[in-house]
Amino acid sequence: MIPEDFLLDFEENLDPSRGRSKYRINVLGYGEISVVFEIPEYAGFAFKRIPNFKSEEEVKGYIELFDYYESLLRNAGMRLLKSHATYVLRKDGKAVLYIVQEKVNPSQVCNKIIHQHEDITQIFIDIIEELEKVWKFNEENQGVEIGIDGQISNWALKDEELHYFDTSTPMVRINGQHQINAEVFLRAAPPVLRTILKKMFLQEILDRYFDFRLVVVDLIANLFKERRSDAIPKLVEIASDYFGERGIEPLTYDEVKKYYDSDASIWSLYLNARKIHRFFTTIAGRRYEYFLPVRIER
Ligand SMILES: Nc1ncnc2c1ncn2[C@@H]1O[C@H](COP(=O)(O)OP(=O)(O)O)[C@@H](O)[C@H]1O
Ligand SMILES: [Mg+2]
Repeated sequence: MIPEDFLLDFEENLDPSRGRSKYRINVLGYGEISVVFEIPEYAGFAFKRIPNFKSEEEVKGYIELFDYYESLLRNAGMRLLKSHATYVLRKDGKAVLYIVQEKVNPSQVCNKIIHQHEDITQIFIDIIEELEKVWKFNEENQGVEIGIDGQISNWALKDEELHYFDTSTPMVRINGQHQINAEVFLRAAPPVLRTILKKMFLQEILDRYFDFRLVVVDLIANLFKERRSDAIPKLVEIASDYFGERGIEPLTYDEVKKYYDSDASIWSLYLNARKIHRFFTTIAGRRYEYFLPVRIER
């Protein structure tokens, strides 16, 4: 698909701290640890770069889990965009993961689509039905569970069907044990935050992706950020009816709002701490590995 020597040349000539590259790049999105961009030379692909690996062995383990996660999601009946995970080994010994994914037109990503329609009830119901496949799978497969980040910006409408594409964080639990190497994520955080995250939040952050109700709270709460809060009261009602029929506790608007406020402040604190860390890393003359957004819209 993408020549390995191209990726290596790309990586060796990248300056993530300034967002500069030898090649022309167009950033499609920023995540908590990854950046997603396109390169005109390879039109039609979205590149997701995750630079958090210490060794080749570690990145290989991650790729194995990524492939397993995608296969579980497909087994659950979800449609995914075609992806291929690979890595490059830099001269300085670092291993960097690249997930090369089929690119969709940005106008097909659901956080854009919700601005093209006044009524977004149907798209919301369609997402809930996709998510339900995950929970059916988890019920039917004792011991193996998949987690999912159901946010509106992780779905694309391709050939008029919903496709899930945010698979770069492979969330799998086997007999209750998270399979993902949490260290990989912690490395993206500034050292002072790592300890706090590890002790207090990490388990909670990961666990919530395995809880149907919380995934839906997160999906709805995110509409504040996506500037469609007008739709929230109705969606809270729909989700509550839906959960009510399945013996799951209903939601309230206040719960969703409270969740959003605390989530937004945690992530903006996280981003600011990363910027400070980038500042001190670069003035110390060391390489800073991550692309950071100028500001995060919350
Ligand atoms: N295959 C793709 N085609 C087009 N845009 C994409 C693609 N993958 C990601 N993006 C854009 O980048 C954003 C972040 O990507 P995502 O896979 O959700 O990673 P993250 O873990 O950072 O949320 C998406 O919301 C979307 O706008
Ligand atoms: Mg995402």
